[in-house]
Amino acid sequence: MTLTLSTAPATETQSEELALLLPQSDWQAQAKAQLGSLGDAIVELASTEGFKAGIGQKFSTATLGQLSARRVTLIGLGKEALTNDEIRDMGGHASRSGHQHKANNVAVWAPWQSAQLGGDRNAALKLISEGLILGAYRFSRYLTDEDAKAAGPENFSLHVTDTDAAAQSALAAAEAVAAGVCVARDLGNEPPQVCDPAYLAKIGQGLADTHGFEANIFEHDALEAKGMNLLAAVGRGSLTGSRLIHLKYTGKGEIKRTLAFVGKGVTFDTGGYSLKISGSMLGMHLDMCGSAAVLGAAESIGRLQPEGVEIHFLVASAANMVSKEAFTVNEILKGYGGKTVEINNTDAEGRLCLADALAYAVELDVDEIIDLATLTGACVVALGEQYTGMFCNNEQMASGVLGAASAAGERLWRMPLDERLRDKLKSSVADMKNTGDRWGGAITAALFLKEWVGDKAWTHLDIAGPAMVEGENPLSPKGGSGVGVATLVSYALGQS
Ligand code: BES
Ligand code: MN
Ligand code: ZN
Repeated sequence: MTLTLSTAPATETQSEELALLLPQSDWQAQAKAQLGSLGDAIVELASTEGFKAGIGQKFSTATLGQLSARRVTLIGLGKEALTNDEIRDMGGHASRSGHQHKANNVAVWAPWQSAQLGGDRNAALKLISEGLILGAYRFSRYLTDEDAKAAGPENFSLHVTDTDAAAQSALAAAEAVAAGVCVARDLGNEPPQVCDPAYLAKIGQGLADTHGFEANIFEHDALEAKGMNLLAAVGRGSLTGSRLIHLKYTGKGEIKRTLAFVGKGVTFDTGGYSLKISGSMLGMHLDMCGSAAVLGAAESIGRLQPEGVEIHFLVASAANMVSKEAFTVNEILKGYGGKTVEINNTDAEGRLCLADALAYAVELDVDEIIDLATLTGACVVALGEQYTGMFCNNEQMASGVLGAASAAGERLWRMPLDERLRDKLKSSVADMKNTGDRWGGAITAALFLKEWVGDKAWTHLDIAGPAMVEGENPLSPKGGSGVGVATLVSYALGQS
């Protein structure tokens, strides 16, 4: 994979496909200005075929030897100013078009500096570059048919009028974030007989070796010995047992912020004895996408080596299976944070894994904690598949995380952490039950987590919707999306 800046005119690209991103108001003139002698003909053809440069609209044509690019694709930017997630998607559109036309190299021109792309050229270069790499991602490891295996485009050149060091570092940042997202996607897409808690531990150790993190991996027995009985219970019925993976990154210079990122790593969620019906079980190998985001962010941070920040990457991993050892409802278990839980549903396992990991993060004495989890179907009912639900106990942190997500081009929506729903978790035999009733399921799950963070500034991201792509979207094929990586990196770098 290569990303390069080029100051040559777009018509001189050596790429097989040239994509032009065009604003609706002025698309004809801008296309003509970029396409030289072919401009009039392509604009006329595109108009005849109904191209209006609406947002995400595409028109593609062969150039029949008239241009060194064998294909030109026009992509509409629409008429409003785009949000960062929409700008990121534009790179995905260009990349997908290249994939469709079997182009290995794709060149992109856009009005980088325009208000429609946010008015900040380098920010637009970063978002679109990220989209280009992500749009080319495929998970083809298990395909044996050569045509089906065909990879997306690998080399991208971005045509600009002039370049500088800041533009170069925008591309490098995009590459680092996209690499992290691809790590997260691969982990998500890996099938459950391969990606189990031991596999996540191995990947975590590999990241530590590559990037120089400290690594501490607690195996199942160690978790029981430490009193992490909730995380241990969830994995009790599985072959490999549970794991807590702890990686520590220490940036150069004086440490000004310490963060912990905590991911739910349920490598398969059958529901346990509160068994899921088979339709709902399908896809539950993606129930480790919170931990995939944490490990993906570790990859990005390892590449970027930000200064003045210490980051703890924590993964709470287990497979929620049925067996003679598996945990059951009515067990009463004591978590690492010292409180007791009456299990009333073994399918609410993610919060159990996270509870022990959050209590462990509190002990690390970090300033702030962010957890990510495919935690509740209720969150998907509330917000749909596009938005992550955010819950936060600290106003300053909430605006920081929202700002980081927006800068990164990920969609977050804040949900209420309303204490009035806490009564739903009341138990007569333990400090709390692990589930409430039907209503407000994403909120009661968040309130359960809140029990384990004390007064630490903490944000919970319920990624159950956007972590799993059902069909496909401009940035991702079906499967794990890698959502969360970009927000975590952006937050760690202090962007908003
Ligand atoms: N992993 C699921 C949540 C989930 C559901 C993620 C659908 C993605 C798509 C989680 O462990 C779970 O089973 N949650 C239950 C909670 C319930 C038992 C209170 C749910 O959402 O039904
Ligand atoms: Mn479950
Ligand atoms: Zn789950």
